[in-house]
Amino acid sequence: MPPSLDMKITKFPKPIKNLLWASDLHLDDASDFARKRFYSKLFHENYDAVMVTGDISNAHQLADDLEELASAVSPMPLFFSLGNHDHFNSCFASVDQVVRKLCSIIPNLYHLDNSGIIELSRDTCLVGHKGWYDGQAGAGVHSKVYDKGRHAIGDFDGLSHKDYFKKLADLGHESATHFRGTLPLALKRYARVMIGTHVPPYWDGIMHGEARCSWDHQPYYANVAAGKAIGGILRRFGSRKLEIYAGHAHTRSTTSISKNLTQHIAEGRRGAPSVERLIKVA
Ligand SMILES: [Fe+2]
Ligand SMILES: [Fe+2]
Repeated sequence: MPPSLDMKITKFPKPIKNLLWASDLHLDDASDFARKRFYSKLFHENYDAVMVTGDISNAHQLADDLEELASAVSPMPLFFSLGNHDHFNSCFASVDQVVRKLCSIIPNLYHLDNSGIIELSRDTCLVGHKGWYDGQAGAGVHSKVYDKGRHAIGDFDGLSHKDYFKKLADLGHESATHFRGTLPLALKRYARVMIGTHVPPYWDGIMHGEARCSWDHQPYYANVAAGKAIGGILRRFGSRKLEIYAGHAHTRSTTSISKNLTQHIAEGRRGAPSVERLIKVA
C-alpha cells in the first residue's frame, strides 16, 4: 500500500514527553489484589500517555478490562494494540467490532491499528499494529511445536495444519501492509519513530526465560513479514531512528537489529500485571 497523503495524524494539545509502556498484562489472570497493585503503581507514575502492546485480557473480558484501564489512565491517552490472547474465546471480526465501538465512546482510548500516525512531539511519532506470529521464522510449517492457542480463536477452528499456517502468513502480510501504509510518511516527517506491536517482527534476541527461542518455537514468536516490510522501508531513511516495542515473548530483551533499528521486548508475568518502563520522548 503506498503512503496515503491523507493519512490520519493524531495530535495532542501538549507534547507527550513521558510515555509509560506496559505489555502482556493478562488482566483476566490477575487477582483483585494484583490488579489493585498495578493500578496503584500506575497512579503513582509520572506520565503523559500510556502504551500497552497487547495481551491485555481475553475477548470475554476485553471490553470491561480496556474500559477499566482507560479509566485508570484518564485523562491521559491510552494507546494500545491487541495480542493473540485478546482474541481468545472469539474471532477477529467480533473483537474488532467491540474495540471500534469502545474507542468511539471512550475519549482517551486509541487503538494503534486505527490511529494512523500519533504525534508525540515535534520530532517523534508512534505507529502500531497488533501484528501476529506469521509462522515463517525458524522451522516454519515443519515446527514440531503445536500451538494450543489456535483452538481458542474461531477463525482458526477446523483449519488443517497447512491452512492454519496459510492463515498465519495472511496475518503477517496484513501487518506488513499496515506498516507499508504508515511508516514511509512517519519516517519522512519524524526523526524518531516508535512502533507498538504485540508480536516482535524480528526473532533475533527473543528469549524464553534464560534460553534463546528455539527453532521449533520461532514460527509462533516472530512476525517475519512485518520485519521485512519495516527493514525495507527503513533502508530509504538512513538518518532516522526506529524503535520497536513489542511483547508476546514475556522475557525482556533489547536487540539492535541495525544501526538505526532497535527492538525492545517487554517482560510479562501472568497474574502479575506490571509496568515495563517509562520511555522518554524528546
Ligand atoms: Fe502474553
Ligand atoms: Fe501473545
